[in-house]
Parts: sequence; structure tokens; C-alpha cells
Amino acid sequence: MDARGGGVWGIVVAAGSGDRFGAPKQFCDLAGMRVVDRALVPVVEVCDGVVLVLPPGVEWDGVGIPVVGGDSRSASVRAGLARVPPEADVVVVHDAARPLAPRALFDAVIAALRSGVDGAVPAIPMSDTMKRVVDGRVVETVQREGVMVVQTPQAFRAEVLRRAHSAGGDATDDAAFVEGSGGRVVVVPGDPRNIKITGPTDLVIAAALLEKQQ
Ligand code: CTP
Ligand code: MG
Repeated sequence: MDARGGGVWGIVVAAGSGDRFGAPKQFCDLAGMRVVDRALVPVVEVCDGVVLVLPPGVEWDGVGIPVVGGDSRSASVRAGLARVPPEADVVVVHDAARPLAPRALFDAVIAALRSGVDGAVPAIPMSDTMKRVVDGRVVETVQREGVMVVQTPQAFRAEVLRRAHSAGGDATDDAAFVEGSGGRVVVVPGDPRNIKITGPTDLVIAAALLEKQQ
């Protein structure tokens, strides 16, 4: 399969409410540019078309085809998928809350599909110790071996992603749907700078990372 043959489409999900941040963080300024606009830069570069999924009532003044999202991230991805043309053969899903994903990461996940797999996601090894906790009490230390933290952009064969999402449901990423329907998902090396803006501290870290880059 030529991953670029019938078109690579991007879906950028920006319809969240940012509860943990305290505001829809994707519209916050990060060193002179909105977080969402930064997230869109590499997507526009690598994709033939881009769908941007927004909260209801937000007027869009940037790039991409705007659509209204849903109550969960997964529902927002499905709203975006509905707007991706049928001839697209690769769909790349990216969080608007990841303003520092480098173009190379997009190239890597798209290139990984050429081996015939259904999906490719960036992953980095877990460096902290993880505990399973119930009611404030540690019940287990989770074995770190083989456990990885995954990021977006995530690339999929379009028909596989559509099928995986067709039954609805919620998950924190799209690979979970593809894995759940028996698809083959591989990892490519993630980028430690590709942080997701989740709480206010993350915006400070992102600004510091950007300053170092310049
Ligand atoms: N997202 C979305 N639609 C939703 C929920 C999330 O498009 N209903 C998007 C967010 O805008 C973000 C990405 O999915 O770009 C990752 O989600 P997350 O970091 O959890 O953002 P929020 O859901 O906005 O934050 P919180 O969970 O703290 O409310
Ligand atoms: Mg959320």
C-alpha cells in the first residue's frame, strides 16, 4: 500500500472543555500563537485535507474544515471522521492539546503503515513507578516492563478506523478501538517534548521547551 495513494487526511480534536486546566486550553496563547494553531502546523504540512473538531458555538478563523465535536474525545473523533472523504486511505488523528509534535513524528507514523499494519502510534517508555491504588491504598505495583505511554499523532488505515469506531464507545485514544476490533497497531519512537497540555503546569513547560528550541 502506498500510504499517500488515495490521500492522507488529518483530524485535529479541539472540542474538549479543559476541565483539569480550568479553561479550553487549546485556545490559550503559547509564545504568541494559540495552542491549537501550533498543533495544526505539521498536520497541514503532511495531510491532503484537515478536519478541525471544535466545541459548539466556537467560530473558527483558522485552517481546516471545522466541525462540531461531541461529549467525549471519541465522539469528537467520530464527528471528524464523518467529514473525511471516502477516498481517503489514511487518517491521522491528533490532539489540539499537543502543540509541540514535530513534523517528523507525523512522517514516522504514516510511514509505519507501509508495512501493512492497521495503525501506528508514538510511544515512550514509562519512567516513573506505577501503582494501582484503590481508595487511597496501594494494592499493586504495576510492572513497568513493556508498559509505554502513547501520544498523538496516531495514523490508521481509514477503513479500519471507521470500522473500529462504528459501534461507538469511549476510549482515551483511537488505537484502543482498532486494537479492540483485532487490528494490528505498532509503535514508533515518541518524542518526550510532545507533551499534552493537561494542567496549567504543562503550558509553562511547553513555553520553556519552545524557548530552548529557538
Ligand atoms: N477533546 C475533544 N472532544 C471532547 C474531549 C476532548 O475534541 N469531548 C480533545 C481535547 O480538545 C484535546 C484532546 O481531545 O485536544 C485530548 O483531550 P484532553 O487532554 O482530555 O482535553 P479535555 O477533555 O479538554 O480536558 P479535560 O479532560 O481536563 O476536561
Ligand atoms: Mg478529557
